[in-house]
Amino acid sequence: MTQSKLLIRPQTTPLSGTITVPGDKSISHRAVMLAAIAEGTSAIRNWLPAGDTIATLEAMRAMGVRVEVERRSTQAWDLRIEGRGLRGLRWPPRPLDCRNAGTCMRLLAGIMVGQSFPSVLDGSDQLRQRPMRRITGPLQQMGANITSADGRAPLSIQPAVLQGIEFRLNVASAQVKSAILLAGLYAEGETRVYQPGPARDHTERMLAAMGLGVAVDRDWISLPAAQPSTVDRRQLAPLDLTVPGDISSAAFPLVAAATVPHSHITVTNVGVNDTRTGILDMLAAMGARFSLNNERVTGGEPAADLTFSFDELHSAGVSGTTVVRGIDEIPVWAVAATQAAGASAVRDAAELRVKEVDRIGILAGELRRMGVNVSERPDGFTVAGPTRLDGAAVDSHGDHRLGMALAIAGLVAHGQTLVHDAGCIADSFPGFVETMQALGAHMEWVE
Ligand code: S3P
Repeated sequence: MTQSKLLIRPQTTPLSGTITVPGDKSISHRAVMLAAIAEGTSAIRNWLPAGDTIATLEAMRAMGVRVEVERRSTQAWDLRIEGRGLRGLRWPPRPLDCRNAGTCMRLLAGIMVGQSFPSVLDGSDQLRQRPMRRITGPLQQMGANITSADGRAPLSIQPAVLQGIEFRLNVASAQVKSAILLAGLYAEGETRVYQPGPARDHTERMLAAMGLGVAVDRDWISLPAAQPSTVDRRQLAPLDLTVPGDISSAAFPLVAAATVPHSHITVTNVGVNDTRTGILDMLAAMGARFSLNNERVTGGEPAADLTFSFDELHSAGVSGTTVVRGIDEIPVWAVAATQAAGASAVRDAAELRVKEVDRIGILAGELRRMGVNVSERPDGFTVAGPTRLDGAAVDSHGDHRLGMALAIAGLVAHGQTLVHDAGCIADSFPGFVETMQALGAHMEWVE
């Protein structure tokens, strides 16, 4: 059965139980790319086998990287990756297909500009719409020969000699920061990046775990200088890492538990890196009832078990650094806002308009179909709550996180909801429906 339509019935019984969610997507992309250019064999456990991350895995394979896969489940693979060293990748005869994955394209570009062979990075029609000047600009400043038509994919790359730079990001983007740092691995001299907010720091943590001294001084991140004679001697040690669960995926069952009356659930082993926990702060500000237990460190990343219970929610605002720390969770936070008393507003979130789709415009349009009063601004939106949601036919527009957010909205709606074009959910969360069903959620694939 092709899984394209998701049917959700009103959740008349509480959600309950203990689940895990698949491994972190950002960490899974980075682990495969960095293991591929390390010296020696890396072991990566609980790796996320989703559409986006498999694009990265296949791209590395297309450049001669050997990967052994042990499929633990549809949600978790264990990988052994034979690193080819910084200079050992092979010329890919065809364009590298990043599918829908912005992280794959933007981070991989940082690696490809340092290679001694040409390459082309391409992806789906959706990815071809997304802005790429934010990476081609700084990479060109480093001496990279990277071109695009009109600042969009496909990206064509020719070999070039790279120089380190000092670059000030004007948006707090982890993808841009990471592309520059990865290119910095191949550059002479020091590479320094200034970030105007706490963009996720998984690349820095992983490079440090691989033996590369990345210095972080407040908002400046520096990769130490390599002199012309030593550039070739930079080396990355292999990784031995268990990927924690993705807080961006956990956000969907957690918001469901916070909004379906009498629910009480636990999601175990969730990554709670401070650059990623904006959603917890946003829900705490609404009065959500939850606790973090069993806090520990796995693979250089903090993780914890999260227990959420239903409670009455009240409105709250989201802006500034909380937006950066929870940007991908704002669509599902908006669903919580529909159930909160008062008007909840998001500001400083213009970046949402250049994600997989325009997540402000499309989300507002789809929530309106369910009877929500949403007003848009260029950098955010306001939801008036509490609202009685009406089940409706809605559409993900090919965006995995919008598909899942609308499914969660369906649980608290009156009447049935049908999410069209929901197959894209597997871009980040394989087994989303089964995971929600394990909590007793009334949702199923119908086609
Ligand atoms: C990601 C960074 C974020 C996020 C995206 C994944 C990453 O984008 O929205 O889903 O893995 O680096 P920005 O680079 O725009 O911060």
